Amino acid sequence: PRKVRIPHLQALKAEGRRWAMLTAYDMYAAEIFDEAGIPVLLVGDSAGNNVYGYETTVPVTLDEMVPLVRAVASAARRALVVADLPFGCYGASVEQGFTSAVRLMKEGRAHAVKLEGGASMAPLVRALTGAGIPVMAHVGFTPQSEHQLGGYRVQGRGDAADALVADARALQDAGAFAVVLEMVPAPVAARVTQSLDIPTVGIGAGAVTDAQVLVWSDFAGLRSGRSPRFVKKYADLRGTLLDAARAYAADVESGAFPDAGHSFES
Ligand code: KIV
Ligand code: NA
Repeated sequence: PRKVRIPHLQALKAEGRRWAMLTAYDMYAAEIFDEAGIPVLLVGDSAGNNVYGYETTVPVTLDEMVPLVRAVASAARRALVVADLPFGCYGASVEQGFTSAVRLMKEGRAHAVKLEGGASMAPLVRALTGAGIPVMAHVGFTPQSEHQLGGYRVQGRGDAADALVADARALQDAGAFAVVLEMVPAPVAARVTQSLDIPTVGIGAGAVTDAQVLVWSDFAGLRSGRSPRFVKKYADLRGTLLDAARAYAADVESGAFPDAGHSFES
């Protein structure tokens, strides 16, 4: 299958065709979503909440990201693999961000990196793209700043809309190939989408973005408890695995497994 490349994503925007992005953190998820034709896989720092068991993405380190990125990049045959720069690995200086991004590309074999933040990130985006590292930007609600933002709150409401549009434009001008819009009012996301030449990728940003992204453990119903409003559950993997584990345990306890068909007689 032909690999998805950045010009392909630009062409989709020009043709007005929408596309879906999913996170992946391991080989099977990457293989399956790639086979399903998902063009872009994100190894998100949402691995913090979805792989490592942390409450937020803040504790995730580069050392924790790299092996996940390598697994996804190895398994993806067609998809473009984007890796998140984790909190604290790029905010101090352009040099710090550059060094971190190179690790995701060299050791993780990512095809692109993603970073959170507005116009203040433009110098880093310029340095990375200048060195051949494609960058996906991420504005609106940025989970790495949740302590600063005061929790999971919709961003870009009212007067803050103009600043959001200006941030997105600054990131585009610095060379970003796409921008994630997380938890922003749908009309504001539509405005950003119309003012940019690069694709917007929405999550909790309404229907008028060029693409959508969901965290795979959310969309597949793996996690327990309530999901955010913007999540749609496309499967109940948690229920499926619960039933399977209970059936297996019951079979072992009753002696029904293994039967002759699952044993070696000689
Ligand atoms: O880490 C992540 O999963 C993300 C997406 C939700 C955009 O950043
Ligand atoms: Na992220």
